[in-house]
Amino acid sequence: MMEASEKAFAKLNISLDVLGLLPNGYHEMSMVMQSVSLWDDIFLTPNDSGKISCSSNIGYLPCDEGNIAVKAAKAFFTALGRENPGLDIRIVKRIPSCAGMGGGSADGAAVLRGLNRLWGEPFSRSQLEEIGALVGSDIPFCVAGGTQHATGTGTTLRELPPMPDCPILVCKPRFAIRTPELFAKIDSRRSRLHPDTAGILDALDRGELEAVARRMYNVFEDVLPRSCGDIGRLKGLLLEHGALGAVMTGTGSALFGVFADEATGEKALIEIKKECPEAWLTRPVGRIM
Ligand code: C5P
Repeated sequence: MMEASEKAFAKLNISLDVLGLLPNGYHEMSMVMQSVSLWDDIFLTPNDSGKISCSSNIGYLPCDEGNIAVKAAKAFFTALGRENPGLDIRIVKRIPSCAGMGGGSADGAAVLRGLNRLWGEPFSRSQLEEIGALVGSDIPFCVAGGTQHATGTGTTLRELPPMPDCPILVCKPRFAIRTPELFAKIDSRRSRLHPDTAGILDALDRGELEAVARRMYNVFEDVLPRSCGDIGRLKGLLLEHGALGAVMTGTGSALFGVFADEATGEKALIEIKKECPEAWLTRPVGRIM
Protein backbone atom coordinates (compact mmCIF):
# COMPACT_ATOMS: atom_id res chain seq x y z
CA MET A 1 0.00 0.00 0.00
CA MET A 2 1.26 3.47 -0.88
CA GLU A 3 2.02 6.40 1.39
CA ALA A 4 -0.53 9.23 1.51
CA SER A 5 0.27 12.87 2.20
CA GLU A 6 -2.29 15.51 3.14
CA LYS A 7 -2.17 19.22 3.84
CA ALA A 8 -3.88 20.13 7.12
CA PHE A 9 -4.97 23.77 6.81
CA ALA A 10 -5.40 26.05 9.83
CA LYS A 11 -8.85 27.53 10.50
CA LEU A 12 -9.83 31.00 11.64
CA ASN A 13 -13.12 32.16 13.17
CA ILE A 14 -14.45 35.06 11.14
CA SER A 15 -17.09 35.17 13.86
CA LEU A 16 -17.73 33.18 17.02
CA ASP A 17 -20.93 33.27 19.05
CA VAL A 18 -21.96 31.14 22.03
CA LEU A 19 -25.75 30.84 22.07
CA GLY A 20 -26.20 28.81 25.25
CA LEU A 21 -25.19 25.96 27.53
CA LEU A 22 -26.48 22.49 26.61
CA PRO A 23 -27.49 19.82 29.17
CA ASN A 24 -24.36 17.78 28.32
CA GLY A 25 -22.05 20.65 29.33
CA TYR A 26 -21.20 21.55 25.74
CA HIS A 27 -22.24 24.89 24.25
CA GLU A 28 -24.45 25.79 21.34
CA MET A 29 -22.30 27.74 18.91
CA SER A 30 -22.67 29.82 15.76
CA MET A 31 -19.38 30.32 13.94
CA VAL A 32 -18.33 31.45 10.48
CA MET A 33 -15.12 29.53 9.84
CA GLN A 34 -12.44 29.92 7.20
CA SER A 35 -9.43 27.81 6.18
CA VAL A 36 -6.21 29.71 5.55
CA SER A 37 -2.90 29.01 3.81
CA LEU A 38 -0.92 27.95 6.87
CA TRP A 39 -0.70 24.18 7.09
CA ASP A 40 0.81 21.07 8.66
CA ASP A 41 1.92 18.24 6.38
CA ILE A 42 0.66 14.79 7.31
CA PHE A 43 2.28 11.62 5.95
CA LEU A 44 0.53 8.29 6.45
CA THR A 45 2.33 4.99 5.89
CA PRO A 46 0.33 1.82 6.53
CA ASN A 47 2.28 -1.19 7.84
CA ASP A 48 1.43 -4.52 9.43
CA SER A 49 2.58 -3.75 12.99
CA GLY A 50 -0.95 -3.63 14.38
CA LYS A 51 0.02 -0.36 16.09
CA ILE A 52 -0.38 3.34 15.36
CA SER A 53 2.88 5.26 15.72
CA CYS A 54 3.19 9.00 15.44
CA SER A 55 6.12 11.40 15.21
CA SER A 56 6.54 15.10 14.55
CA ASN A 57 9.13 17.83 14.11
CA ILE A 58 7.94 19.46 17.37
CA GLY A 59 9.40 18.05 20.59
CA TYR A 60 6.50 18.95 22.89
CA LEU A 61 3.72 17.52 20.73
CA PRO A 62 2.24 14.45 22.44
CA CYS A 63 2.60 11.57 20.02
CA ASP A 64 0.74 8.98 22.09
CA GLU A 65 -2.97 8.18 22.42
CA GLY A 66 -3.55 11.82 23.40
CA ASN A 67 -2.72 13.08 19.91
CA ILE A 68 -5.82 13.94 17.88
CA ALA A 69 -4.24 12.44 14.74
CA VAL A 70 -3.89 9.07 16.52
CA LYS A 71 -7.46 9.31 17.89
CA ALA A 72 -8.77 10.09 14.39
CA ALA A 73 -6.95 7.07 12.90
CA LYS A 74 -8.46 4.81 15.59
CA ALA A 75 -11.94 6.25 14.95
CA PHE A 76 -11.49 5.61 11.20
CA PHE A 77 -10.63 1.91 11.68
CA THR A 78 -13.44 1.48 14.23
CA ALA A 79 -15.94 2.97 11.74
CA LEU A 80 -14.54 0.68 9.05
CA GLY A 81 -15.12 -2.29 11.37
CA ARG A 82 -11.52 -3.40 10.94
CA GLU A 83 -8.74 -4.27 13.36
CA ASN A 84 -6.16 -1.51 13.18
CA PRO A 85 -3.71 -2.97 10.63
CA GLY A 86 -0.78 -0.70 11.63
CA LEU A 87 -0.01 2.85 10.64
CA ASP A 88 2.81 5.35 10.89
CA ILE A 89 1.76 9.02 11.09
CA ARG A 90 4.40 11.71 10.54
CA ILE A 91 3.41 15.34 11.22
CA VAL A 92 5.36 18.36 10.01
CA LYS A 93 3.88 21.04 12.22
CA ARG A 94 3.66 24.72 11.30
CA ILE A 95 0.27 25.71 12.75
CA PRO A 96 0.94 27.13 16.23
CA SER A 97 -0.51 25.10 19.14
CA CYS A 98 -2.90 26.58 21.71
CA ALA A 99 -3.77 29.31 19.22
CA GLY A 100 -7.46 28.76 18.39
CA MET A 101 -6.41 27.86 14.85
CA GLY A 102 -7.57 24.25 15.00
CA GLY A 103 -4.08 22.81 14.47
CA GLY A 104 -4.89 19.47 16.14
CA SER A 105 -8.32 19.26 14.48
CA ALA A 106 -6.81 19.97 11.05
CA ASP A 107 -4.32 17.10 11.59
CA GLY A 108 -7.15 14.79 12.68
CA ALA A 109 -9.23 15.68 9.62
CA ALA A 110 -6.22 15.20 7.32
CA VAL A 111 -5.68 11.71 8.78
CA LEU A 112 -9.35 10.87 8.00
CA ARG A 113 -9.05 12.12 4.40
CA GLY A 114 -5.72 10.35 3.86
CA LEU A 115 -6.88 7.01 5.29
CA ASN A 116 -10.09 7.25 3.26
CA ARG A 117 -8.00 7.63 0.10
CA LEU A 118 -5.61 4.80 1.02
CA TRP A 119 -8.51 2.44 1.80
CA GLY A 120 -10.34 3.12 -1.50
CA GLU A 121 -12.82 5.85 -0.43
CA PRO A 122 -15.13 3.74 1.77
CA PHE A 123 -16.68 6.88 3.32
CA SER A 124 -18.36 9.98 1.85
CA ARG A 125 -17.34 13.46 2.98
CA SER A 126 -20.29 13.70 5.37
CA GLN A 127 -19.49 10.27 6.85
CA LEU A 128 -15.90 11.44 7.49
CA GLU A 129 -17.34 14.52 9.20
CA GLU A 130 -19.47 12.27 11.43
CA ILE A 131 -16.43 10.16 12.36
CA GLY A 132 -14.48 13.37 13.03
CA ALA A 133 -17.20 14.70 15.36
CA LEU A 134 -16.60 11.68 17.63
CA VAL A 135 -13.02 12.89 18.15
CA GLY A 136 -13.36 16.70 18.39
CA SER A 137 -15.86 19.48 17.67
CA ASP A 138 -13.68 21.32 15.11
CA ILE A 139 -12.70 18.24 13.09
CA PRO A 140 -15.87 18.10 10.91
CA PHE A 141 -15.21 21.63 9.60
CA CYS A 142 -11.58 20.73 8.87
CA VAL A 143 -12.57 17.70 6.72
CA ALA A 144 -13.54 19.94 3.77
CA GLY A 145 -12.57 23.40 5.10
CA GLY A 146 -13.16 26.45 2.93
CA THR A 147 -15.84 28.84 4.19
CA GLN A 148 -18.59 27.29 6.34
CA HIS A 149 -21.17 28.21 8.97
CA ALA A 150 -20.87 25.85 11.96
CA THR A 151 -23.79 25.56 14.39
CA GLY A 152 -24.96 23.13 17.09
CA THR A 153 -21.86 22.12 19.03
CA GLY A 154 -19.86 23.28 16.00
CA THR A 155 -20.40 20.05 14.07
CA THR A 156 -23.48 21.03 12.03
CA LEU A 157 -22.08 22.56 8.86
CA ARG A 158 -23.35 24.64 5.97
CA GLU A 159 -21.17 25.49 2.98
CA LEU A 160 -20.95 29.25 2.31
CA PRO A 161 -19.84 31.27 -0.71
CA PRO A 162 -16.02 31.50 -0.54
CA MET A 163 -14.55 34.45 1.34
CA PRO A 164 -13.17 36.98 -1.20
CA ASP A 165 -9.41 36.52 -1.67
CA CYS A 166 -7.36 38.84 0.56
CA PRO A 167 -4.23 38.95 2.71
CA ILE A 168 -4.91 37.78 6.29
CA LEU A 169 -2.26 38.63 8.87
CA VAL A 170 -2.30 36.11 11.73
CA CYS A 171 -0.29 36.65 14.91
CA LYS A 172 0.15 34.43 17.95
CA PRO A 173 1.15 35.99 21.27
CA ARG A 174 3.38 33.73 23.40
CA PHE A 175 0.80 32.94 26.10
CA ALA A 176 -1.89 30.26 25.86
CA ILE A 177 -5.49 30.64 27.06
CA ARG A 178 -7.37 27.82 28.81
CA THR A 179 -10.50 26.99 26.77
CA PRO A 180 -12.65 25.65 29.68
CA GLU A 181 -11.92 28.84 31.68
CA LEU A 182 -13.28 31.03 28.88
CA PHE A 183 -16.42 28.89 28.46
CA ALA A 184 -17.01 29.12 32.25
CA LYS A 185 -16.73 32.91 32.10
CA ILE A 186 -19.20 33.06 29.23
CA ASP A 187 -21.65 30.95 31.29
CA SER A 188 -21.47 33.35 34.21
CA ARG A 189 -22.44 36.35 32.06
CA ARG A 190 -26.10 37.21 31.68
CA SER A 191 -25.97 39.57 28.72
CA ARG A 192 -23.26 40.07 26.19
CA LEU A 193 -22.55 41.45 22.76
CA HIS A 194 -23.13 39.12 19.85
CA PRO A 195 -21.55 39.15 16.39
CA ASP A 196 -23.79 40.16 13.50
CA THR A 197 -23.63 36.65 12.02
CA ALA A 198 -26.56 37.29 9.67
CA GLY A 199 -24.76 40.41 8.38
CA ILE A 200 -21.59 38.38 7.74
CA LEU A 201 -23.55 35.67 5.89
CA ASP A 202 -25.21 38.37 3.80
CA ALA A 203 -21.86 40.07 3.04
CA LEU A 204 -20.39 36.70 1.94
CA ASP A 205 -23.39 36.18 -0.34
CA ARG A 206 -22.64 39.54 -1.93
CA GLY A 207 -18.85 38.93 -1.98
CA GLU A 208 -18.17 42.14 -0.03
CA LEU A 209 -14.91 41.73 1.87
CA GLU A 210 -15.08 45.04 3.72
CA ALA A 211 -18.57 44.30 5.03
CA VAL A 212 -17.37 40.90 6.28
CA ALA A 213 -14.25 42.36 7.93
CA ARG A 214 -16.17 45.15 9.66
CA ARG A 215 -18.50 42.63 11.32
CA MET A 216 -15.88 40.14 12.58
CA TYR A 217 -16.40 39.50 16.29
CA ASN A 218 -15.66 36.78 18.84
CA VAL A 219 -17.64 36.67 22.12
CA PHE A 220 -14.61 35.25 23.96
CA GLU A 221 -12.79 38.56 23.49
CA ASP A 222 -15.21 40.01 26.00
CA VAL A 223 -14.20 37.65 28.82
CA LEU A 224 -10.41 37.55 28.41
CA PRO A 225 -8.42 37.58 31.65
CA ARG A 226 -6.42 40.75 32.34
CA SER A 227 -3.20 38.85 31.62
CA CYS A 228 -4.25 38.70 27.94
CA GLY A 229 -3.95 42.45 27.44
CA ASP A 230 -1.57 41.85 24.52
CA ILE A 231 -4.52 40.70 22.42
CA GLY A 232 -6.24 44.09 22.63
CA ARG A 233 -2.95 45.86 21.96
CA LEU A 234 -2.14 43.70 18.89
CA LYS A 235 -5.68 44.15 17.60
CA GLY A 236 -5.19 47.91 17.86
CA LEU A 237 -1.90 47.64 15.97
CA LEU A 238 -3.49 45.59 13.17
CA LEU A 239 -6.22 48.22 12.73
CA GLU A 240 -3.71 51.08 12.98
CA HIS A 241 -1.71 49.48 10.14
CA GLY A 242 -4.64 49.25 7.80
CA ALA A 243 -6.63 46.11 8.66
CA LEU A 244 -10.28 46.34 7.54
CA GLY A 245 -11.15 44.39 10.70
CA ALA A 246 -9.34 42.32 13.34
CA VAL A 247 -10.52 39.61 15.72
CA MET A 248 -9.32 36.79 17.99
CA THR A 249 -9.82 33.26 16.61
CA GLY A 250 -11.48 30.48 18.66
CA THR A 251 -10.39 30.66 22.30
CA GLY A 252 -7.15 32.38 21.27
CA SER A 253 -4.54 33.35 21.77
CA ALA A 254 -4.01 33.97 18.03
CA LEU A 255 -5.74 36.90 16.35
CA PHE A 256 -5.83 38.14 12.78
CA GLY A 257 -6.51 41.13 10.61
CA VAL A 258 -8.02 41.17 7.12
CA PHE A 259 -6.42 43.49 4.55
CA ALA A 260 -7.61 44.93 1.24
CA ASP A 261 -4.26 44.59 -0.57
CA GLU A 262 -0.96 42.72 -0.37
CA ALA A 263 1.27 45.82 0.05
CA THR A 264 -0.62 47.04 3.14
CA GLY A 265 -0.62 43.52 4.57
CA GLU A 266 3.14 43.14 4.05
CA LYS A 267 3.89 46.49 5.68
CA ALA A 268 1.68 45.57 8.64
CA LEU A 269 3.49 42.21 8.97
CA ILE A 270 6.83 43.99 9.43
CA GLU A 271 5.35 46.21 12.16
CA ILE A 272 3.49 43.40 13.96
CA LYS A 273 6.59 41.17 13.98
CA LYS A 274 8.41 43.79 16.07
CA GLU A 275 5.86 43.14 18.85
CA CYS A 276 4.89 39.54 18.10
CA PRO A 277 7.53 37.44 16.31
CA GLU A 278 5.10 34.61 15.53
CA ALA A 279 3.18 36.22 12.66
CA TRP A 280 2.27 35.09 9.14
CA LEU A 281 0.63 36.58 6.06
CA THR A 282 -1.91 34.04 4.83
CA ARG A 283 -4.85 33.90 2.37
CA PRO A 284 -8.23 32.16 2.40
CA VAL A 285 -8.16 28.57 1.13
CA GLY A 286 -11.21 27.04 -0.60
CA ARG A 287 -12.90 23.68 0.03
CA ILE A 288 -10.74 20.62 -0.57
CA MET A 289 -13.46 17.96 -0.62
O1 C5P B 1 -14.92 18.80 21.21
P1 C5P B 1 -13.61 19.30 21.74
O2 C5P B 1 -12.81 18.21 22.39
O3 C5P B 1 -12.83 20.04 20.73
O4 C5P B 1 -13.98 20.37 22.87
C1 C5P B 1 -13.01 20.81 23.82
C2 C5P B 1 -13.73 21.45 25.00
O5 C5P B 1 -14.35 22.68 24.60
C3 C5P B 1 -14.87 20.61 25.58
O6 C5P B 1 -14.43 19.75 26.59
C4 C5P B 1 -15.79 21.66 26.15
O7 C5P B 1 -15.35 22.08 27.42
C5 C5P B 1 -15.62 22.83 25.21
N1 C5P B 1 -16.67 22.91 24.18
C6 C5P B 1 -17.94 23.34 24.54
N2 C5P B 1 -18.92 23.44 23.57
C7 C5P B 1 -18.65 23.14 22.30
C8 C5P B 1 -17.37 22.71 21.91
C9 C5P B 1 -16.40 22.60 22.88
O8 C5P B 1 -18.21 23.64 25.70
N3 C5P B 1 -19.61 23.27 21.39
